[in-house]
Amino acid sequence: MNVLVTGGAGFIGRWVVKRLLDDGQYVWVLDDLSNGEESNIAEFKTHPGFQQFVHGDIKDEIALNQLFEHKFDVCYHLGASINVQDSIDDPRTTFNNDTLGTFYVLEQCRKHKVKIVFMSTCMVYDRCLDETGITEAHPIKPASPYAGAKIAAENMVLSYFYAYDLPAVVVRPFNTYGPFQKFGGEGGVVAIFIKKKLKGETLYIYGEGTQTRDLLYVDDCARFVVEAGYSNKVDGHIVNAGLGYDISVNDLAKLIVGDESRIEHVEHIHPQSEIQKLLCNSSKAKQLLGWEPKISLDSGLKLTEEWIKTIL
Ligand SMILES: NC(=O)c1ccc[n+]([C@@H]2O[C@H](COP(=O)([O-])OP(=O)(O)OC[C@H]3O[C@@H](n4cnc5c(N)ncnc54)[C@H](O)[C@@H]3O)[C@@H](O)[C@H]2O)c1
Repeated sequence: MNVLVTGGAGFIGRWVVKRLLDDGQYVWVLDDLSNGEESNIAEFKTHPGFQQFVHGDIKDEIALNQLFEHKFDVCYHLGASINVQDSIDDPRTTFNNDTLGTFYVLEQCRKHKVKIVFMSTCMVYDRCLDETGITEAHPIKPASPYAGAKIAAENMVLSYFYAYDLPAVVVRPFNTYGPFQKFGGEGGVVAIFIKKKLKGETLYIYGEGTQTRDLLYVDDCARFVVEAGYSNKVDGHIVNAGLGYDISVNDLAKLIVGDESRIEHVEHIHPQSEIQKLLCNSSKAKQLLGWEPKISLDSGLKLTEEWIKTIL
């Protein structure tokens, strides 16, 4: 298949590209490098399936028009502003990239009849109230402009399924971690904590640290996303993926650093947008795609630490 991955030079995008190439697909990548790195996909450039890296913006309709001449079978749309805190400080950028940008990508998919896999997020959900976890029927809550922009984009994607019969699926992976995630201030919690552990620095937790996260290893996430593009059973659906186990940020910090004296609590920057409990129920992904996570939290943390050690 000919496949486009927007945001393919980013953290999860890099793993989606890898899996698609391993599966024998022909892959194009579009990324504006606002948060991705070309070096993330450098190793794939000589792969016979790798077709082209386009340094461009999903909001550039002229560039998108040219790119879609390649007659894609599937568009994996991951390109987005991903930071909850940034979206509160600067909602315009997130709205423009995540909602408007998705609209432009969707219009191309409609014109060329290309299946779209839209990468949404667990951050659209309201807090989880029990141990059965969050199914796709769980209430949503736009607690941040990031969540609001993703929900708006999700609705547009599904409207194209109903109005134009466009093959389209919305995927909502839970918090994803692993090699290639940034570990500076803008990175993910796991990467930041592991880096601080390795450098002998203090781990800072915003707020009380009782909020829980369901942490999905990135290769499990990429396998889920890629499979959603291959199967027509999920068209018109929203599908979750997570580990099915949640851990509080306090316990995660202890698990990573061991020594509690190296953990400090600081005031939350935007407590109003925090989601207290996120626990995924992935039974729909199992039923429709046969997908289940394979990497436990312990193994995933080890793999991530090994990778961070190689580049620190
Ligand atoms: N990391 C997570 O825990 C997580 C969980 C669920 C969903 N997601 C979603 O997965 C996708 C990938 O996230 P990630 O964690 O890999 O983040 P990332 O920032 O590494 O990836 C996003 C990529 O999109 C690119 N991009 C941003 N705006 C663009 C634009 N206007 N045009 C072209 N490219 C643009 C960035 O440069 C980056 O490479 C996002 O849609 C995100 O919302 C992430």
